[in-house]
Amino acid sequence: MKIVNIKSLAALFMGTVSLFAVASCGGNAEDAKDTAKVDTVKVEVPVKKTREELIVNRDTIAIANPDSITELENKHSAAVTFGEKNAEGKTAVTVKVGENGLVHPAEEEHFIDFIAIYAKVKGVDTELGRVELQNDLKPAEATFTVDLKGVKEVTTFVGCNIHGIWKETTKVGKTK
Ligand SMILES: [Fe+2]
Repeated sequence: MKIVNIKSLAALFMGTVSLFAVASCGGNAEDAKDTAKVDTVKVEVPVKKTREELIVNRDTIAIANPDSITELENKHSAAVTFGEKNAEGKTAVTVKVGENGLVHPAEEEHFIDFIAIYAKVKGVDTELGRVELQNDLKPAEATFTVDLKGVKEVTTFVGCNIHGIWKETTKVGKTK
């Protein structure tokens, strides 16, 4: 009976497996080279937001308690000034945003985007004027020359792109 050397058999078997492995990998060498070529560095480039994307809050907000106004409320509050009537009988109404020494920011991503005034004219809520603002006006303000005949009070709307639309009412002739 022939005695088979087990060690020799094992070596032969391992050799076969190794050869098979080398043959399998040989075809992927080019692929591996290609993969190395597409290895890139990811760089984040900030994209400037549009005005529509920046205006994220359109809730209407009223000052909770005018006798104990908060810092946030002061920054969004409208200081209204009534001028003299002109030759046509119209009045210059100036709306300036910010009170008690606090001014609303005018920054790229936080700003006053509009100011509007309304009044009841013959019983109907009517827009007397509205301006759209950019983010470079500090303090934000606008003057409207309007006919206040029969108008007892005006309602101002101040739009902040982040904190919403701030609504206040001021009696005509009373500078606030
Ligand atoms: Fe704001």
